[in-house]
Amino acid sequence: MAPRLLLALAVACLAADCRAHFVNFTLPTLPYATTLFEPNIDNATMTIHYTKHTQTYATKLNDAILTTCLGQGLALTPLSQLVQKVGASVPCGAKLCKAIRNADCEKAVRNQGGGLFNHGLFFLHNLAPTGAQDYETHASRALRDAVKQAFGSYDTLKANFSTTAAGVFGSGWAWLVYNPATRKLSITTTPNQDNPMMGLFTPRSYAILGLDVWEHAYYIKYQNRRADYITAFLNGKIINWQGVSLLYAKAVNGQYPNLNVLDLQQGPWRVMS
Ligand SMILES: [Fe+2]
Repeated sequence: MAPRLLLALAVACLAADCRAHFVNFTLPTLPYATTLFEPNIDNATMTIHYTKHTQTYATKLNDAILTTCLGQGLALTPLSQLVQKVGASVPCGAKLCKAIRNADCEKAVRNQGGGLFNHGLFFLHNLAPTGAQDYETHASRALRDAVKQAFGSYDTLKANFSTTAAGVFGSGWAWLVYNPATRKLSITTTPNQDNPMMGLFTPRSYAILGLDVWEHAYYIKYQNRRADYITAFLNGKIINWQGVSLLYAKAVNGQYPNLNVLDLQQGPWRVMS
C-alpha cells in the first residue's frame, strides 16, 4: 500500500472508529463457571488468566491490525490463518517473500495473535470442569486408537507429556499435536506464545491439546510447583476430551488450518466485520 494511502487510512481510523471495518477479535463468555475447576485450577487463576491475560492478547492484536499491520492484507484474516503466516513464505514473482512483510506486524501476530490463539484453544477447547469428562468415556475411538499407535498407552502419553511440560524452560506451552506428514500424534513444546503450526517450525503440526506453563497459569495456587500443576491437569479430570477429539478429527481431515478461528463446539471465537 502506498505510504500516502496508508497515512490517509490511519488518519481516518483516528477520526472515526474504523475498527468496525476490520476483524475485531473478541473473547466469548466462557461456557462454564470458573469456580468449577477446583481443586485443580483455582478460581482466581481461571478468572485473571482469561479476563486479564487473554483479553490483553486480543486488545493488543486488534491494535496491531489497525497500526503496524495496515497494508499487509491481513485485516480480514481469521485468527487460525493469521497465526500460520508467522515465519511463513509465499511466492512473489520468481522468489519467495515473507507472508507478513512488516517485521513489527509479524512480531505482533506472533506474540499477541499466538497468545490469543493458544489461550482460545486452552480455555474453549481443551478444558472442562473438574470431573465432567474422562479419557475413556469422552475421547473418540479414533483419538484413542491414534494415542495407542503413537505412545502405546494413555498412561505413556501422560508420562511423556508431563516430562515434556516440566522441561519447558521459562514461559511456553506443551502440546499434543497431529503431524500431517507422519499422520501421527506426538508431543512437543513451543516457547512464549508460539504455536506449532506457525511457519517457524518444520514440519508444521496442529495442536489438539495444549498446556500453558507460563507462571501466570499456575502461580497463585502452585507457586514454584509446576510439576503439581501439570499433574493436576493430567489427572484431575479437567481435560475436554470431546473438544480434543474434534480437533483431532479436523486435523486428520485437513480442515484444521481452515478453521475459522476455531469455530467449534464450545464458546466459538467470534469474528466481527
Ligand atoms: Fe496464559
